[in-house]
Amino acid sequence: MAARTALVTGGIGGIGSAICRELAAKGFRVVAGYYPAEKDLAEQWQQKQHAEGLKFEIASGDVSSFEDSQQMVRDIETRVGPIDVLINCAGITRDKTFRKMEPDQWRAVISTNLDSLFNVTRQVVDGMMERGWGRIVNISSVNGQRGQFGQTNYSAAKAGAHGFTMALAQEVARKGVTVNTVSPGYIATEMTQAIAEEVRQQIIAQVPMARMGEPDEVAYLVGVLCDDRAGYITGANYELNGGLFMSF
Ligand code: CAA
Repeated sequence: MAARTALVTGGIGGIGSAICRELAAKGFRVVAGYYPAEKDLAEQWQQKQHAEGLKFEIASGDVSSFEDSQQMVRDIETRVGPIDVLINCAGITRDKTFRKMEPDQWRAVISTNLDSLFNVTRQVVDGMMERGWGRIVNISSVNGQRGQFGQTNYSAAKAGAHGFTMALAQEVARKGVTVNTVSPGYIATEMTQAIAEEVRQQIIAQVPMARMGEPDEVAYLVGVLCDDRAGYITGANYELNGGLFMSF
């Protein structure tokens, strides 16, 4: 069987890159989506991966825009082929306490982290259902589950992501398409590097594992959910947070 194709939005980021590598190791053809303004960064990333023997495609698209997402998916379908696996990993933070938060900071996070699930998934779901196989994984966050001081926008978007997962999972289940959420805790990436050192240390002190997670640890779980044998797992949320938040 020809290799299946996976699109990882936010594919050149910390967690996204690890997911790209994991899916490649599992035999998928991998396309990393990137924000159009990061073209140079994306090309450098692609060259670096090539130098390590990993031949990833890259595709430009602003996931906060429906039209851009449509264009990105059309471009991938023409150049690479239909998308069988979608990892909605693109995400940003604009941390501010609520009383200081400006409408732009609210909108940027909701559109990039939540509207994007509609914008990108809408482009690929028909094809997955027609072919009778698909895997969609939405990268949420521990902070969607428990809330986080300074993140009303991010927590709202990430909690919304799992509502999206549960609803869509029901609609596509009969056609062999699974939809799941992975909710990482604090993972060592540029995003968590941006938190003030003192605040970051306070957060790590609350983690039972007493450390941040590694992107590879998230990627491993995403890889499992994309496996053929994960076909009965759908509508689920998987936590991966070093024990920072536990639920049943
Ligand atoms: N809990 C309770 N009180 C807190 C607090 C907390 N976590 N953090 C700050 N405060 C208090 C301060 O002590 C201060 O109190 P006083 O006014 O009495 O001195 C007050 O709140 C400060 O309020 P400000 O509005 O002035 O806030 P600030 O500008 O100092 O900081 C912030 C705001 C930058 C958002 C800061 O709260 C922060 O960095 N929070 C952490 C955000 C965070 O965890 N982001 C995660 C990013 S990574 C990610 O999102 C990935 C993922 O999925 C996990």
